[in-house]
Amino acid sequence: MSATIAVLSQKGGTGKTTMVRSLADVFERLGVDVLAVDADPQGNLSDYFDTDPNAQPTLGDVLMGQARAADAVHGRVIPANLQLAEAELSLSGKIGREVTLRQALMDLKRDRELILIDCPPTLGLLTVNALVASTHAILSTEAQYFSLQGMEQAVATA
Ligand SMILES: Nc1ncnc2c1ncn2[C@@H]1O[C@H](COP(=O)(O)OP(=O)(O)OP(=O)(O)O)[C@@H](O)[C@H]1O
Ligand SMILES: [Mg+2]
Repeated sequence: MSATIAVLSQKGGTGKTTMVRSLADVFERLGVDVLAVDADPQGNLSDYFDTDPNAQPTLGDVLMGQARAADAVHGRVIPANLQLAEAELSLSGKIGREVTLRQALMDLKRDRELILIDCPPTLGLLTVNALVASTHAILSTEAQYFSLQGMEQAVATA
């Protein structure tokens, strides 16, 4: 059985991407077959994995139905770039927009023991897609007032 974990918080800069990168490494050292998914148009996780900035296809192509998720795996990550913001916009008018990532990852889930999804610092459609595709969620926060507000908003969404 595989698990899919979304790492999220409404507040920016709370360590989401760093946590996904670190967990991917830790689980890999434990012998777990891990795939990371960059669901943030900032593309920070893709950078962390040293992905070629011109790598194609990316998660944006997958969400727009132009590529299979399996073809968008580069090393140990499905990368993202600014094009993911366009993909989010184009998804917004579609029926089934919340389940697009879940359906796209379905085949990969059979092969991978663990999928980690790095969310953007918003509770928009990309984060909702990540939550719907996941079996678990990790909320990252800092011990600061506004960060804790972000956590409450994320709990309400999850
Ligand atoms: N556990 C930690 N302790 C100290 N600093 C950290 C920790 N985790 C991350 N950082 C630093 O905090 C900054 C933000 O981290 P990161 O990019 O992982 O946050 P994020 O929540 O993904 O940001 P964003 O909301 O923009 O996606 C980075 O400079 C990172 O090096
Ligand atoms: Mg991040």
